[in-house]
Amino acid sequence: MLFSEEKVSEIIEKNDIVDVVSEYMNLKKSGSNYSSLCPFHSEKTPSFSVSSPKQIFYCFGCGVGGNVVSFIQKIERLSYVEALRLLAERAGVELARDRDPKAIKEANEKKAIYRINQEAARFFYSKLQDNRMPMQYLTGRGLSEAVIKRFGLGYAPNEWQNLLNDMSKKGFSAAALHQAGLLAKKEDAGRYYDKFRNRVMFPIIDLKGNVIAFGGRVMDDSKPKYLNSPETPVFSKGHNIYAMNFVKKVAGLENIIIVEGYMDVIALHQFGVNNAVASLGTAFTEHQAKLLKRFSNEIVIAYDSDLAGQAATLKGLAILEKAGCMVKVLSLPSGKDPDEYIRKEGLEAFKERIKKSLPLIAYKIESVKKGLDTNNLQDRIRFTKGFSEILKDIESNTEVDAYVKKYSKDMQVDETAVYAELNRLRDKNKNGNNKHNIISDKKSESKMLKGEIIAETYLLNICIYYFDKAKNIFKMIEPEDFSVDLHEKIASLIKTKSDEGKTITAGEIISCFENEEVKLQAAALFSIELPEGKSDDLMMSCIDKIKQSKNTRRIQELTEKMNALFQAGEKEQANKLFVEIIELQKLRK
Ligand code: GTP
Ligand code: MN
Repeated sequence: MLFSEEKVSEIIEKNDIVDVVSEYMNLKKSGSNYSSLCPFHSEKTPSFSVSSPKQIFYCFGCGVGGNVVSFIQKIERLSYVEALRLLAERAGVELARDRDPKAIKEANEKKAIYRINQEAARFFYSKLQDNRMPMQYLTGRGLSEAVIKRFGLGYAPNEWQNLLNDMSKKGFSAAALHQAGLLAKKEDAGRYYDKFRNRVMFPIIDLKGNVIAFGGRVMDDSKPKYLNSPETPVFSKGHNIYAMNFVKKVAGLENIIIVEGYMDVIALHQFGVNNAVASLGTAFTEHQAKLLKRFSNEIVIAYDSDLAGQAATLKGLAILEKAGCMVKVLSLPSGKDPDEYIRKEGLEAFKERIKKSLPLIAYKIESVKKGLDTNNLQDRIRFTKGFSEILKDIESNTEVDAYVKKYSKDMQVDETAVYAELNRLRDKNKNGNNKHNIISDKKSESKMLKGEIIAETYLLNICIYYFDKAKNIFKMIEPEDFSVDLHEKIASLIKTKSDEGKTITAGEIISCFENEEVKLQAAALFSIELPEGKSDDLMMSCIDKIKQSKNTRRIQELTEKMNALFQAGEKEQANKLFVEIIELQKLRK
């Protein structure tokens, strides 16, 4: 869905950047700005600033910045359109699809399920507080009260209609509860009953903070060990990542550790590993890979060391790799999952394991190596094949050489045999392989003077601070007079608005650019403070500087042209230019 320019403006106007940012962090007023620790990199002193008059944010530490839409894109890791949608919803701006009856019905259905799940989570939580047995189970597994509360763990009592009765009293229908996946239905009698009974409950929460499903664990050896909510309009398996709602808020997230189970995540968080999430047993999916990648490029897989865990690791690796993630594998001693490991060995030992986690290639080679006997010829051939298969995708030859050297020796295989196999595999692949040459970016070196850029920057900021001056400014200077492309574009945006008798904020200007890089440049431009003193004086000297520089550039251009003409024997033409140059030089101060 495309947003019209007016819609975008309306959305930006109705979402004050200070209000929006305040929903994510504590802003302190300092002068005309607000400041705080930057949510996008880790730091000890605040360099993140939000300007109310300019409607922009900027971090002097890491250089991120933009308007309210860019902020939401960054903090929620959303696309531009998704961010606009979120802000539209936040401010109650109606979008075209909001009028589509089918969309309305679906949205209402989802809202109802979110409410039910939220209430059910409260119910389970209070039941856990009231019952010794499940509480003892959880504390017995080492969970602290704080972490139980943070993850909203609960207990579903050992009765058939406990939740049903409680929720009915609160006005929810059995049919609605059934649709939310909390009730099962006896087919013949048509009677509803609680799906989760006598289980400790783990709410699954999406990125917006909605409870979308539950996992329930038995407290003994009965089966199934875990029971999850069925698919509902708000929950599709393989689309969510457990604890991502917490991890997405970690400032300066370096990587994400992905584990298999609820208990692993919770234990890791309790011990201070705040970047752990779980894929929840089901096979790792592309959706999950994309979701992870929104938040971090580097993913550390810490699955169980049992066979199933290893197979899952390899599959997960392939999917993550395809999504463009940098994947590493953390290995634990056999028979241990992360939960058991960190409880027994402690945080430092776990951190050490993270440090030692193997990059994908090394992990793959290690898995091929596993169980092979270097004394056995068949095994050595097997290794050569598997090894070459892994190496064939590596781009850098130096890297390949390094692996070949290291492992050929370890596995007592012949280096030339590995290379021969490698060449065979690569030849086979060649036809299907089309590598594009990266066309180098031939930006001409900037001849611009620094003073000129500063003058342009100040002048554009003056236009924003004192919008009533813009009309006057653009009587004296044209957008084309600006030397930097971006400045020219911004100047012309401002000029157009001021000609129409309208105003424009820095935030709105930023929203006019699609390219992320350009948005950032625009945000940086508007994040400067104007020097003290009379704005009119500054304005005049900026205009003067810009005109002077333009003049200088023009003289340079004409001189080059003149020389070329002269050399080509076109004396008359050259002379004409010479006169023009003299005239221009007269304008110089
Ligand atoms: P604990 O035994 O409580 O420590 O759980 P765990 O996470 O160590 O269990 P396990 O390694 O067996 O399973 C990992 C994850 O797979 C769990 O957290 C569940 O999400 C899922 N899982 C395990 N058993 C079942 C099951 O019987 N049914 C379903 N649907 N999922 C399961
Ligand atoms: Mn476990």
